[in-house]
Amino acid sequence: MPSPYRSQRLPDTAGNIIKAASLLHDGQLVAIPTETVYGLAASARDAAAIAGIYKAKGRPDNNPLIIHVATLGMARELAAFHQEAESLAEAFWPGPLTLVLPLREGGGLAQAVTAGLDTVALRMPAHKTALALLEAFGGPVAAPSANPSGRISPTSAEHVLDPDHGLDGRIAAVLDAGPCPVGVESTILGWQDGIAVLLRPGGISAARIGAVIGHVPLPPQRKAEKLLAPGMMASHYAPSATVRLNADTAATGETYIGFGPSAPAGALNLSLAGNLDEAAANLFDTLRRADLLGRPIAVAPIPAEGIGAAINDRLSRAAAPR
Ligand code: TXA
Ligand code: MG
Repeated sequence: MPSPYRSQRLPDTAGNIIKAASLLHDGQLVAIPTETVYGLAASARDAAAIAGIYKAKGRPDNNPLIIHVATLGMARELAAFHQEAESLAEAFWPGPLTLVLPLREGGGLAQAVTAGLDTVALRMPAHKTALALLEAFGGPVAAPSANPSGRISPTSAEHVLDPDHGLDGRIAAVLDAGPCPVGVESTILGWQDGIAVLLRPGGISAARIGAVIGHVPLPPQRKAEKLLAPGMMASHYAPSATVRLNADTAATGETYIGFGPSAPAGALNLSLAGNLDEAAANLFDTLRRADLLGRPIAVAPIPAEGIGAAINDRLSRAAAPR
C-alpha cells in the first residue's frame, strides 16, 4: 500500500537512525521521538536548518529552542554549569528536565536557536532512539515539540504527520518509535539572581528538584517573565474546540474527558485507574480524539501533585481564551 504521507515515516531501526542522522547532516528537518513528546530536530549549528524549524512550525522568532545532547561533555561546551546545574544533571539526566544556563561563547550554535538571548536551554532525553540518533549525529540538536505553533504537542508519529494538525509535507521524515512514555514536555528550570525558578512544570516534579537543591524552585518573577520563558504564552496546546476545566459531569452537547474509576462508563478517560503518570501519557492523544468529535470539551478535575501539576498547566493553556 502506498504511504498516505508526503514526509517519510521511518521505523526506528538501526539503519533508519543512521539515515535520520545523515538527513540532519544535510540540513533537513526530522521529527524524533523522546520520552516526553516528539521533537522537530535540526542541527543546532546550521543556521538555515534552524530557520527551517521556525518556518515549518510557524513559530515566532523570539521563542528559543531546546538543545538536545547525548553527553554531559557536549552540554558543558555549550553552557556554563554552576553547582546546582551539575547536581541536577547528575540526578535527572538523561530525563525530562531542561536547564536554562548561561550561553558559552564559541559553542557554534546558530544565533536563532537562542533567539538572541544570553542563555541556552539544554536537555539529555531519556529515550533509546533519541540518544542513538544524537550519538550517530555527533553534535547538538535543536528540537522544539513537533507541532504547528500553538497546537497540541505530538506523542506519536501519527500526530506529527496528521494531515490537518501536523507537519506532513513540511519536514523530511519522522523517526517512529511508537508512543512517548511520559507524554508531557520536560520541566524547564532557570535561575534568576542565582535562585532556581520553575519556567514550565513537566516530567520532573518541583518537589523532586527541591530534594536535590535544598529548596523548591520559585515561580519566575513577573517583571522578567517574558525574557525568562518566551514560549509560555497563556493560549497553547489548543484544540479547535473550547475546553472547560474541573467539570464533574458533561453538559448537554459536550465531550467529556474523565479521570479515575468514577467517571461515566463509555466516556474518554485519561486513566481509569486514576494514575497520574498514565494520565500524562494519554493527555495529548485524548485531547486530539475529543477534538475530532467536533463538540466543546469538558475535563474532569485532575489532582495537582507530582506530574499532575504539568497536566493541569497544559489543560489550563488548552482552555485559555485565544
Ligand atoms: O520535552 C521537551 O522539552 C520537548 C522535547 C521535544 O524535548 N521540547 C519542547 O520544546 O517542549 P518547545 O520548543 O515546545 O518548548 C521549549 C520551551 C519554550 O517555552 C521556550 O520559550 C523555552 O523552552 N526556552 C528555550 N530556550 C530558552 C531560554 N534560553 N530561556 C528561557 N526559555 C527558553
Ligand atoms: Mg512546544
